[in-house]
Amino acid sequence: MERTALSRIAVVTGAGQGIGAAVAEDLHTRGHRLALLDVDAEKAAATAARIGPRAAAFAADVRDPAAVRDALDAVRARFGTPEILVNNAARTVPRPVWEIELDEWDDVLATNLRSVFVLTRELAPAMRERGFGRIVNMASLAGQQGGLVAGAHYASSKAGILVLTKIFAKELAASGVTVNAIAPAATRTPVMDGMDPEQLRAAEAAIPVGRFGRPEEVAGLVGYLCGEDTGFITGATFDVNGGVFMR
Ligand SMILES: NC(=O)c1ccc[n+]([C@@H]2O[C@H](COP(=O)([O-])OP(=O)(O)OC[C@H]3O[C@@H](n4cnc5c(N)ncnc54)[C@H](O)[C@@H]3O)[C@@H](O)[C@H]2O)c1
Repeated sequence: MERTALSRIAVVTGAGQGIGAAVAEDLHTRGHRLALLDVDAEKAAATAARIGPRAAAFAADVRDPAAVRDALDAVRARFGTPEILVNNAARTVPRPVWEIELDEWDDVLATNLRSVFVLTRELAPAMRERGFGRIVNMASLAGQQGGLVAGAHYASSKAGILVLTKIFAKELAASGVTVNAIAPAATRTPVMDGMDPEQLRAAEAAIPVGRFGRPEEVAGLVGYLCGEDTGFITGATFDVNGGVFMR
């Protein structure tokens, strides 16, 4: 039997560039309406314009719960009630554990982890009420194994996401809302632009698949998990890492 694809309303944080932009594009291709949330308003607007007519940008700093609430009100006014949430925004900071200042620790945790707590609590109750929802949280290999490049604050925030995913998955399992995590590694995005080319070559050579991942390879999995037929998949973590970490 042919299935009619439903057009859902999706919020993707950190959608201005990199994996978030690829996720927004993938979900748009699948017919959904897209709210691109990013602290960088210009990048989000440019990405939304490139993606197409059912995408719009909303400027918000995910560290700021009041700004997030305002942006989500604007999303609801523009599109309606979101049924898909992709928590992707993050700050990646390479720093030896001994050199991390407390302010930077707090900032990275607020950006990467507290934002998942805030956005999920903002959007999940309405999903639960309507009996359908898809939440995907972008974790990292760093949250499983410690960071290759990124600091202990980043790695700790990503480890926190893994357990928060399970907590929300259990809370929401009976109401048609799934919550899953993806743990990417070594994916070629602007986050690598400033890195030493020699170090990048060495890092690439160490990946069993023999190359960096592409943002679209992460985005395709997000798109799948946000589909209609994935209601039995919840509380899981999916590795997208070219074989760097196998378990
Ligand atoms: N690229 C990789 O190899 C890799 C590996 C593991 C995990 N990840 C994870 O995947 C996700 C995307 O990574 P990426 O490489 O595309 O990152 P990126 O740095 O290229 O993009 C991050 C986006 O988030 C936005 N952002 C940052 N702080 C924000 C804030 N306070 N409020 C709102 N938006 C904010 C940025 O403006 C940017 O558009 C992140 O969660 C990252 O931790 C990436």
